[in-house]
Amino acid sequence: MEPSVSAPSSSPLTRRPQWQALQEHAGPLGRRHLRELFAADPARGERLHAEAAGLYLDYSKQRVTGETLRLLLELAGACGLHERIAAMFRGDRINTTEDRPVLHVALRAPAGAHIDVDGRNVVPEVQAVLDRMAAFSERVRDGSWTGHTGKRVRNVISIGIGGSDLGPVMAYEALRHYSRREMTFRFVSNVDGTDFVEATRDLDPAETLFIICSKTFTTLETLTNAQAARAWCLQALGDERAIAKHFVAVSTNATEVQKFGIDTTRMFGFWDWVGGRYSMDSAIGLSTMLAIGADNFRAMLAGFHAMDEHFRSTPLQHNLPVLTGLLAIWNANFLGAATVAVLPYEHYLKRFPAYLQQLTMESNGKHISLDGARVDYATGPIYWGEPGTNGQHSFYQLIHQGTRLIPCDFIGFCRALNPMPDPHGGDQHDLLMANLIAQSEALAFGKTAAEVTAEGTPAALVPHRTFEGNRPSSTILAERLDPHTLGALVALYEHSVFVQGVIWNIDSFDQWGVELGKALAKRTAAEIASSNDPELSHDSSTNTLIRRYRRLREASA
Ligand code: F6P
Repeated sequence: MEPSVSAPSSSPLTRRPQWQALQEHAGPLGRRHLRELFAADPARGERLHAEAAGLYLDYSKQRVTGETLRLLLELAGACGLHERIAAMFRGDRINTTEDRPVLHVALRAPAGAHIDVDGRNVVPEVQAVLDRMAAFSERVRDGSWTGHTGKRVRNVISIGIGGSDLGPVMAYEALRHYSRREMTFRFVSNVDGTDFVEATRDLDPAETLFIICSKTFTTLETLTNAQAARAWCLQALGDERAIAKHFVAVSTNATEVQKFGIDTTRMFGFWDWVGGRYSMDSAIGLSTMLAIGADNFRAMLAGFHAMDEHFRSTPLQHNLPVLTGLLAIWNANFLGAATVAVLPYEHYLKRFPAYLQQLTMESNGKHISLDGARVDYATGPIYWGEPGTNGQHSFYQLIHQGTRLIPCDFIGFCRALNPMPDPHGGDQHDLLMANLIAQSEALAFGKTAAEVTAEGTPAALVPHRTFEGNRPSSTILAERLDPHTLGALVALYEHSVFVQGVIWNIDSFDQWGVELGKALAKRTAAEIASSNDPELSHDSSTNTLIRRYRRLREASA
């Protein structure tokens, strides 16, 4: 069925001459192959790149020309990108539907910086929380913070969900190489009890510290898991006073933290101008700091800040987040790509695609513009991915020979964190990176029917073994994965998401779309829990599912 809201025939964005110029340009360019673009401009691979904060971006294998970039930059100008970037850094209330500034950049500003929110410089508060986190982390890491029975803390479990989980998990996995190996770090997010049970089954409560992470401290999943943690702890330690040594909170909501039973002296705060999915570098990253230490955490913040400064001050045509954001617009709106594959060739980044899913899709999965009108263009594409080379033996077939256009972001590092000799005398890392480079080449240039035939392939198999190519990708290279590089990489995507939101004229910082499901789940939970057969007034499918669930649950009980 069609959605009941009808789209206006044309929005201001699609009526802009710059948008229409891009549409006209996309027709003929869409018919040009990357083989042709490289043949026409042999230096293309050296020219179409940008560099900042230790990251090198090669975008020469995107289906663009100098003219495409010129038109995209004109569109950015017409959409006021420059001014919107300045507004974000100034602390203007650019999250209009929640009436808030968007200042994750203040979380990584240097101590002497000055960023005002409502006339107050917030940088000293940010630094004060960082200092408290550092002091606490130091005590846990050196063993002077002990549990209730006097045992040192060996296990840290961070409980949170969404932005209060995905960033910390991703950062812990990404920076595991730098982590305190004799400590165990786990993350519990799902309200499915299995998550908590499996995370705790082999741990001693006397040696376990829980970090309850929730911006609002009202999130059902997190509070349910926090109660489970409390019960698990008390059952073993048998004394309410144990909570003081085994629980800390990270939140903006001191009242709810106290209600839960965590004293605010053991709470690390942040602010409503930090969006959940932009908070891994706030106190939400306490588990990261516990794992890698305060100095490494500050190095990560420096990486974020280096990219922030680049984004704030570099002309748009050389600006990495601007370029990646505009290329994403080009692929989504003018070449018709509905998804983006993120392919890190670094096993430590295995949770990076999952982290990016929230960052990109919760930010730009919107169909209402800042003016309150339904948009008539595609917005946020679907992000997904797996580390290479694993993905090559799974879904790459579809990227190479399927019917859909799937732009890819390849991410690789030049130095191995775990060098391993390979049987041919090289290093396994060289094999890994050879695969990354080969994949981007294969996607761009493919293999023609003539080349396949020349190899002696039977005629009937030629179409099957032909690769059309012309599949766009960008490659991000850095020297090695370390805290600074991770910060720069995350900031690159954060700002790229913002650039796309500016062009699409949407609020990238709200998330109203998650509310309806939450409200309905509350009502359904009450109906499922009710001891007598409740009167149900949903649609017939929902009513039947609730009844069947209750019946089968009771039958098996
Ligand atoms: O449900 C979505 C969401 O609101 C995310 O935006 C947020 O990161 C997550 O829930 C967790 O929220 P909180 O940190 O308040 O528990």
